[in-house]
Amino acid sequence: MRTTGAHVLLTGATGTIGAALARRLTERGAQVTLLARTPTALQALADATGGTPFAADLCDPEGLRGLVDRVEVQQGPVDVLLNNAGAETTGLLTDLTAEQLRATVDLNLTAPLELCRQVIPGMLARGTGHLVNISSLAGVATFPGLAVYGASKAGLTHATSGLRADLRGTGVGTLAVEIGPVASEMMDRISLHGPSEASFARVLRARLLSLLDPDDVAHRVVTAIEQGRPHLRLPRRAAPLAAVTGTPRAIARIALSGIPTSSTRHDEDRETAT
Ligand SMILES: NC(=O)c1ccc[n+]([C@@H]2O[C@H](COP(=O)([O-])OP(=O)(O)OC[C@H]3O[C@@H](n4cnc5c(N)ncnc54)[C@H](OP(=O)(O)O)[C@@H]3O)[C@@H](O)[C@H]2O)c1
Repeated sequence: MRTTGAHVLLTGATGTIGAALARRLTERGAQVTLLARTPTALQALADATGGTPFAADLCDPEGLRGLVDRVEVQQGPVDVLLNNAGAETTGLLTDLTAEQLRATVDLNLTAPLELCRQVIPGMLARGTGHLVNISSLAGVATFPGLAVYGASKAGLTHATSGLRADLRGTGVGTLAVEIGPVASEMMDRISLHGPSEASFARVLRARLLSLLDPDDVAHRVVTAIEQGRPHLRLPRRAAPLAAVTGTPRAIARIALSGIPTSSTRHDEDRETAT
């Protein structure tokens, strides 16, 4: 999918990775709708990049309802949905409140899927579109203190694979981005939890992972969108591990090739009904 001239709805736009994505996308000539909760940060990013601010809370069911329609009324059809907003929780499950548990799953898993649900019909009608979900290597391997975060990201990666199967042949592509630790405030916050900090320190020391640069991540995500790649796994040295986790999904995709997809069925049902 070409990003030049494309309308990209970017969530979590004001965070470390989101701002890098906003900069890279606008450099490539995309028209970017910047979504986050804090209007002042959104306006500052809009001033710096030329994107359009759109304030919404993705954990608020009212804010989420009809969100894609509201964006499209203002800015036109969404060509690329880039689900980047996410938040970590660290600590034992029993250290979290029920609200923290729900909010993490709402933001990291339910909201991206709900936005996909809202945007897909228009993309199918236009025969083109791209769904990008920023997941994490925390959804591949579990680290102490990150059970809820990792589970929400594993769910997002798995759901992206399912969407890919459903949308095969429709012109609507998917990209699952599985990244390791990025130099960011999120990593600084995670490092405040002793067991998580010790775990990252060990895998970084053993060079199983390396600390990623947000601008480099943004560059590679945008390139992967433009090349139509289904997966992006960073750092490269960890990619084989993520690919192993994805093997059952890949085997299912090969074994089930030729089976009519849900989207094809949907079209056939509509044709029969008319
Ligand atoms: N940083 C890492 O090391 C790392 C590693 C792997 C994967 N990731 C993933 O990469 C993505 C971006 O991470 P990041 O480090 O850039 O995060 P970040 O700096 O903490 O930024 C989070 C962004 O999401 C927005 N946001 C938070 N809650 C929201 C809500 N309820 N509704 C709407 N927007 C909300 C924030 O703005 P407001 O607070 O103003 O709403 C901000 O723009 C996340 O999905 C994360 O899980 C990060």
